[in-house]
Amino acid sequence: MRLRPLSPGDLDALVALDADPDVMRHITGGPPTPRALYLDVLLPRMLAAGGGDPERGFFVAEDTDGDFLGWFHLRPDGWEPAWLELGYRLCRERWGQGLATEGTLALMAHARRRDPDTVFSARTVPENAASRRVMAKCGLVEQPERFTFPAREWPGLSLPEWEGVLYRTT
Ligand SMILES: CC(C)(COP(=O)(O)OP(=O)(O)OC[C@H]1O[C@@H](n2cnc3c(N)ncnc32)[C@H](O)[C@@H]1OP(=O)(O)O)[C@@H](O)C(=O)NCCC(=O)NCCS
Repeated sequence: MRLRPLSPGDLDALVALDADPDVMRHITGGPPTPRALYLDVLLPRMLAAGGGDPERGFFVAEDTDGDFLGWFHLRPDGWEPAWLELGYRLCRERWGQGLATEGTLALMAHARRRDPDTVFSARTVPENAASRRVMAKCGLVEQPERFTFPAREWPGLSLPEWEGVLYRTT
C-alpha cells in the first residue's frame, strides 16, 4: 500500500466507495453519499483539509497496481486544533488485512518526525468496533466522556445527531 494526496480526479472512486452500505454502516447508517454532494461540498472540503500543508489532509491509499483501496486523513482536529485527527475508510474487500492500522501508523510516524509531541485524536460511534480496534492498536486511548456528532442536513443526505467516542494519545 502507498499513500498519495487526494486529488479532484478521485471523485469517482470516492463515490463508489460510499456506495457500499457495509462501508457506510457507521457513517450514515448505510445510505450512500450522493455524487453531487461530493462534487459541491465534500470533495472541496477534503482537498482543503490540509490547510495548504502537503503533509496534512486526505491521502488516497493504493495498492502496488495503483488500484484504489480507500483513504486516510491526518488533519487539524475540528474540536481541538492543536491535535491532529486521524481517520480512514477502506473498500470492503480490503478489510481485515491490517491496512487501516498500517496506514494510520505510517501517518503518525511521519507527523512525529516533524513534532515528536504530536497529540493524535480519532472519533467514531461506539458501535464501530473495527474502527475502535484500529485506534487502540495505534496507541490511542478511549476517553471516558462521550460527545455528540452534530446533525447534518445536506442535499440528498441528512444525518441525525449521534453519540461519539473519542480516542487520543496522551
Ligand atoms: C474501520 C476500517 C477502516 C478498518 O480497516 P481494516 O484494514 O480492516 O483494519 P485493520 O485490519 O487494521 O484492523 C481491524 C481490527 O478490528 C478488528 N475487528 C474487525 N471487525 C470487528 C468487530 N466487528 N468487532 C471487533 N473487532 C473487529 C479486527 O479483528 C482487527 O483487529 P485485530 O488485528 O486485533 O484482529 C474498515 O473496517 C472500514 O473502512 N470501515 C468502514 C468505514 C469506517 O467505519 N471508517 C471509520 C469511521 S470512524
